[in-house]
Amino acid sequence: MLKKISIMCFFVYIPLAFSQTIPSSLKNNNCVTCHTINKKLMGPSWKDIANKYKSNQNAMQTINQSISSGSSNKWGGMPMPASPQINQEEVTEISKWILQQ
Ligand code: HEC
Repeated sequence: MLKKISIMCFFVYIPLAFSQTIPSSLKNNNCVTCHTINKKLMGPSWKDIANKYKSNQNAMQTINQSISSGSSNKWGGMPMPASPQINQEEVTEISKWILQQ
């Protein structure tokens, strides 16, 4: 019985561990085509973004704005398109998560 439970825990734990890395709101809104947690793709990595805004008091506001309305000339290279379809509550959740990376 105990053995069965520990085997079950093992299989439940693996998908949970993966699903915690990137929240579904970032996957569903295609953020992952241009961003990863720790590697620069077309956009800066979320770790780099978190680092840049670490001591910025307006970090949440700035990032919310960038996600909703797009962003350009902050990181050099290409601009980020706007995502006006994401509601403000979700944008705030996304920003919170990014700043914790
Ligand atoms: C087409 C590619 C692309 C997509 C899709 C994309 N980004 Fe970006 N993102 C970029 C680029 C390029 C930059 C750098 C823009 C700049 O230099 O200002 C950036 C910058 C950012 C920044 C930093 C903005 C700042 O003010 O410094 C955040 C946060 C961010 N993206 C989050 C997201 C989220 C969340 C999504 C999904 C809703 C997303 N991105 C989708 C390309 C993309």
